[in-house]
Amino acid sequence: MSTTTIAPQNMAGTATDFLPLHGTDYVEFYVGNAKQAAHFYKTAFGFQSLAYAGPETGMKDKVSYVIRQNKLTFVLTTQLRMNNDIADHVYKHGDGVKVLALKVDDATDAWQQTTSRGGKSYMEPVTLKDDEGEVVMSGIHTYGDTVHLFIERKNYKGLFMPGFREWKSLYNPESTGLQYVDHCVGNVGWNQMNPWVKFYEDVMGFRNILTFDDNDISTEYSALMSKVMSNGNGYVKFPINEPAEGKKKSQVEEYLDFFNGEGVQHVALATNNIIETVTDLQNRGVEFLKVPASYYEDVLDRVGHIDESLKPLSELGILIDRDDEGYLLQIFSKPLQDRPTLFFEIIQRKGAKSFGKGNFKALFEALEREQDARGNL
Ligand code: FE2
Repeated sequence: MSTTTIAPQNMAGTATDFLPLHGTDYVEFYVGNAKQAAHFYKTAFGFQSLAYAGPETGMKDKVSYVIRQNKLTFVLTTQLRMNNDIADHVYKHGDGVKVLALKVDDATDAWQQTTSRGGKSYMEPVTLKDDEGEVVMSGIHTYGDTVHLFIERKNYKGLFMPGFREWKSLYNPESTGLQYVDHCVGNVGWNQMNPWVKFYEDVMGFRNILTFDDNDISTEYSALMSKVMSNGNGYVKFPINEPAEGKKKSQVEEYLDFFNGEGVQHVALATNNIIETVTDLQNRGVEFLKVPASYYEDVLDRVGHIDESLKPLSELGILIDRDDEGYLLQIFSKPLQDRPTLFFEIIQRKGAKSFGKGNFKALFEALEREQDARGNL
């Protein structure tokens, strides 16, 4: 039986939020070649150069390139030598997300609140200073080798962080209209969804706002289960997926195989005009999953009136879904690196607060065609 549930919205001022978050501060990727990765995200997705750290700025063994587009900040980091955490991470997982950094008012308190509730410390609070002020950061581990850093920058006026210098580039492609991180999805192992749901509840004070069981998310062949965790103000949403039994291998299992463990499956990036953004992204070479043309034959019967005309949506392969509060438009990229692991979702919300349940079947069938082509279904 299907058990999709939507919990009531949190009332402002009810129950104290012991971990107030102001959204995503940045996403850091550990990659094999940060210079080239930064170029790729600038070219393909419309980011601009912001800051750089490396041997020239006193960071001996690694380099980080920071790129920005509206409220999105990505950090691409590579090791320069072997036998260290970054090199090991890239060897084991390939290119992927290491850090989901969250904006806080008080990084010391965030660390104390979470570690006293059972969070495993990744970084005790440290204060980084330069002429522009100070940044306090701390962190805890989450699923796999992924970590959450808490970033307090209220006393900092600089570009990014002490230790970084401005990265001036003559090459600054135009924005594709991507605005901010809407949500970040984690893939965890068999029977690990509920323990991680409990982690986000107990350690970070999140709530489970949506649940999808394997009847919601299954095709003829494979299945998964998912629970969406949200912080109090809804600025930070982390759906957690685990594989479920099907006739063939779940897409989550394929991820776990190639990532060699649990990790971030996709980052959803919001836009205010998905038709313009996706047109631009496709022209820059970003590849997306495609659903069959038949999807569009009856989609309006399912979702009702939408402001956009269907033609550009069907030409681009953009999916549509509706909930009680409105509708949303979404599309999923193919994997961003060689391994079939991390991908992006592009999403435009027009009132809807949900995640596109009505598209799961068409979408997962599209995904399975790709999985089958790789010989992993
Ligand atoms: Fe998503």
